Amino acid sequence: MGEVKFVSNWEGVQSVPPDYIYPPEKRPGNVVVPMANAIPVVDLSTRDRPLLVRKILDASQEFGFFQVINHGVSRRVLEETTRIFKKFHAMSGAEKAKECSRDPYKSCRVYTSSENYRKEQTHCWRDALIFNCHPLEKYVHFWPQNPPKYREVVGAYCVAMRTLVLEILELVSEGLGLGRGYLASEMSENPLMLVNHYPPCPNPSLTLGLSQHCDPSLITILFQEVNGLQVLKDGQWIGVHPIDNAFVVNIGFVLQVISNGKLKAAEHRAVTNAKISRQSLTYLVYPKDEVTMEPAKCLINEANPPRYRALKFKDFQRNYLPRASDTKAVMECIGSNCS
Ligand code: OGA
Ligand code: NI
Repeated sequence: MGEVKFVSNWEGVQSVPPDYIYPPEKRPGNVVVPMANAIPVVDLSTRDRPLLVRKILDASQEFGFFQVINHGVSRRVLEETTRIFKKFHAMSGAEKAKECSRDPYKSCRVYTSSENYRKEQTHCWRDALIFNCHPLEKYVHFWPQNPPKYREVVGAYCVAMRTLVLEILELVSEGLGLGRGYLASEMSENPLMLVNHYPPCPNPSLTLGLSQHCDPSLITILFQEVNGLQVLKDGQWIGVHPIDNAFVVNIGFVLQVISNGKLKAAEHRAVTNAKISRQSLTYLVYPKDEVTMEPAKCLINEANPPRYRALKFKDFQRNYLPRASDTKAVMECIGSNCS
């Protein structure tokens, strides 16, 4: 394979190339998407724990999405981390590839569009950096060393994210009646950090930064400064308004399965921007490969039979990747009527 042509490293692009133009029914078009303030904002410093649990559960059921404020990750850590990743994506393609080449397991990777580049019908207007991040001491020595201080800054971010994830997972477990530690367990032991970079695009109505999908995670915690994330709610796209110093949390397929459909993974996508580049820091909370994902036993009874089959996470992932932008097809793979 020749050298990867990252969108960030294109120069003087005047129009969207044909293989980035989505079919009309999938294009964002010129429709103005409402920046509904409907996605609930949850203040994690709320002392009333039952209230906090209820807010998170309600949002997860209704939208599959919420934002969190007063989350304990310091502004300084967030700022330094976003700055480092912007510098990383601004490096040349060869430099980025070199910085990711230390990992013999290839878990630290840069790619463009999606991991399904060669088979996908339309490319997305996006470059991505992805890497394992927990436990830190297992992976940090495979990480890039450039831009300077990368490991120190990103390491601090990942440690802070881990704390936040465990806190949110305990609240969700409590809300579902699963008991302590049900989700803060091997179900969440293999998080990945995914840094999406969407350079300015000459015509955002024709293409997408990221196609419509649900995440293959337990939950996902995203940080965005520039708007572009949209969620499908009752057949309508709504924009997720960037709030200063807030994270967007969404439910993934794994939690949908564990909760036996009580919580839903919502479909979402990222649109591009004609003027400025956009970056999102996406912390994907994954189970370990060998973990079996299945509806929690305590949520199953005669009135509530399992709606999904038991599946090892690695087998689920293998099924997910080629179908990522076709949620119905993914659902068919995990449904209880499948073998
Ligand atoms: C993702 C994702 C949206 C965004 O990385 O899974 O949905 O706004 N990202 O970058
Ligand atoms: Ni996503």
